[in-house]
Amino acid sequence: MTAIAGQGGGRQGSAETLAPLLSIRGLTVRYGPITALDGLSLDVGAGQVISIVGPNGAGKSSLLAAIAGTVKPAGGQVTFKGQPTIGQPLEQTVRRGIALVPEGRHVLASLTVLENLRLGATIRRDTAEAAREIEGFFKTFPILGERRNKSAGRLSGGEQQMLVIARALLSKPTLLMLDEPSLGLAPKITDQIYAMLASIREAGVSILVVEQNAARALRVADRTYVLNGGIIRMSGTEAELSGNPDFEAAYFGLAPRGGAQ
Ligand SMILES: Nc1ncnc2c1ncn2[C@@H]1O[C@H](COP(=O)(O)OP(=O)(O)OP(=O)(O)O)[C@@H](O)[C@H]1O
Ligand SMILES: [Mg+2]
Repeated sequence: MTAIAGQGGGRQGSAETLAPLLSIRGLTVRYGPITALDGLSLDVGAGQVISIVGPNGAGKSSLLAAIAGTVKPAGGQVTFKGQPTIGQPLEQTVRRGIALVPEGRHVLASLTVLENLRLGATIRRDTAEAAREIEGFFKTFPILGERRNKSAGRLSGGEQQMLVIARALLSKPTLLMLDEPSLGLAPKITDQIYAMLASIREAGVSILVVEQNAARALRVADRTYVLNGGIIRMSGTEAELSGNPDFEAAYFGLAPRGGAQ
């Protein structure tokens, strides 16, 4: 798909043969007495899609915030392209190729679809190329193209989700992180959002997606991690996890730490 141009530039070989794009070791996040993440470790390889599933309060958003550098961890390391992200200003992290689509579809409601997309490209100097990419998005995702001059606040929930994902792509990320993109959307609309993620992956952008919606997250990902109480309880492919009773137990927090990894 030509409209989606990440920094990744296509598949870069199998993740096993390369240093991971994103490497997380012993990541701990605390809010006062609450431990949101408890020594979490995982890798995302170049071109991979990794999903994290877990119930309310599992620590999913805290994980993405710690990677993006907007929450300061109590311990551990996050390395992206071989360099630490913790303690870096957010703009620097975005320039290095990490884009976060936060929970809740934060469009700028009074601005048009086009204006929202332009905002996604503000860190770039190649404004003419960014404008061409926006036109490419409008062709690839006609739902957005037809509404280019409409206020973003008047879009449906699914359209707003597409818009914030497209906006994030305009920073040309190598790694796109999404926080519960299907939350509150009807199954048919969720299908469209996940089809969009599949196109993004085909363009060589790595994806880290967190979801409560386990079925979708399993299907899209090369590997899924089950997070509960700030701890990875289990991980595997869709074939390994789907329909596996241990997976359900891990999701609901019944499995021992590190059980059935
Ligand atoms: N700013 C904060 N201050 C205090 N506690 C927080 C804060 N943010 C999150 N927490 C707590 O940290 C834990 C993990 O929260 P987090 O938002 O990361 O979970 P989540 O998996 O994203 O949940 P959800 O599915 O509801 O979005 C929860 O117990 C939550 O109440
Ligand atoms: Mg959350």
